[in-house]
Amino acid sequence: MTGETGPARKFYEMSIAERLQFLESRGELTREELLSLSGETGLSAAQADKMVENVIGTYALPLGIAQNFVVNGRELLIPMVVEEPSVVAGASFMAKLVRAGGGFTAQATDPLMIGQMQIIGLDDVESARRQVLENKERLLAEAADVDPMLNRLGGGPRDIEVRIVQGPAPKPFLVLHLIFDVRDAMGANAINTATERLTPLVESLTGGRVLLRILSNLADRRLGRARCEIPLEVLAFGEYSAEAVRDGVIQAGWFAAADPYRAATHNKGIMNGVDAVVLATGNDWRAVEAGAHAYAARDGRYTSLSTWNQAANGNLAGMLEMPMAVGIVGGATRVHPAARAAIKLLGVKTAGELAEIIVSVGLAQNLAALRALATEGIQRGHMGLHSRQVAIAAGAEGSQVDAVAAQLVAEGRVRLERAQEILKDWQG
Ligand code: MEV
Repeated sequence: MTGETGPARKFYEMSIAERLQFLESRGELTREELLSLSGETGLSAAQADKMVENVIGTYALPLGIAQNFVVNGRELLIPMVVEEPSVVAGASFMAKLVRAGGGFTAQATDPLMIGQMQIIGLDDVESARRQVLENKERLLAEAADVDPMLNRLGGGPRDIEVRIVQGPAPKPFLVLHLIFDVRDAMGANAINTATERLTPLVESLTGGRVLLRILSNLADRRLGRARCEIPLEVLAFGEYSAEAVRDGVIQAGWFAAADPYRAATHNKGIMNGVDAVVLATGNDWRAVEAGAHAYAARDGRYTSLSTWNQAANGNLAGMLEMPMAVGIVGGATRVHPAARAAIKLLGVKTAGELAEIIVSVGLAQNLAALRALATEGIQRGHMGLHSRQVAIAAGAEGSQVDAVAAQLVAEGRVRLERAQEILKDWQG
């Protein structure tokens, strides 16, 4: 059920070697790139030592390839890095249902990031605010000087906004927002450098002191949006009618829209897909997580990032919108060989295209969770895959793993003690 590769064998039925062979035969990645993506080679400790401090090695996670995705008419293989069973399978299966309705349509806004400057020690915040706004063009010109290369690529500072903030401070202070088009970078470096560069000018204009200068992870000017419509007839399965599945997903959406306790879990399900691609492509998943949850609370109450409705023709229609601060140049996206290969496999030419794919995967993952939760429950599918981890934890090796897992599922007791007992019995 994890996907199809054509009339021959299904991708999930192949061995790892066969999957690599299949991917190589498509010609998108060289053997060397495939090996780095598959963990055979990839990030060396020496390379890692250049990325962070005090390195003693690297840490591996499973990398799976989600199948069946069509985003804006383009067929895609999606690299996903995730430790949780069912995520890759769930995304692949939902992508297949969505494909029956023409696939995902997705858009990304311009890659506008916000850099914040906190200006304190002001006697007259109103006049300081006016000073900044009256000198907007001068400030923008100064910020543009920071990265001429980015300007040549069409990026650079776009606007300046100023807010008066009181909060718990005894006196109000100013917050300047520098809106910056970072093109294909995640953008943290460009933004942070620009806000630092503006400090002397802002201090002389306002008479205050600039304290913090840092990007905002609430990247609400840099959004990704994905939509899908699933034909009613492909929703039915087992004892569940298509209408029951559709209405169950819609009702599950209402629950998340109304209740923050549910919304947190609902959005976590979305992030299962989002983070897996963010990680595979070497992007900053903490930034994307922070942006997602802050955006989910933008109206003062935490709510769902996605919506599910019945389309006029009776189909199930879904939409996900969220900040998507990801890049395809700079940082780990360039240094990490597996991240480079993942970006190449996706065939994206801009950060916006990557954002469009990531939100589509998030929407697919959300649907996988809601479809299961609104019908047979999450444990059935989950336990089948989880049982393999339990078998390994109990000491099963090679062919024993699947055999122990199958027995655990058949007995309906996916528990470590039971797996240990089964192995003990088999050893005589
Ligand atoms: C588990 O990792 C994710 C879910 O809890 C998401 C959801 O409840 O929507 C299944």
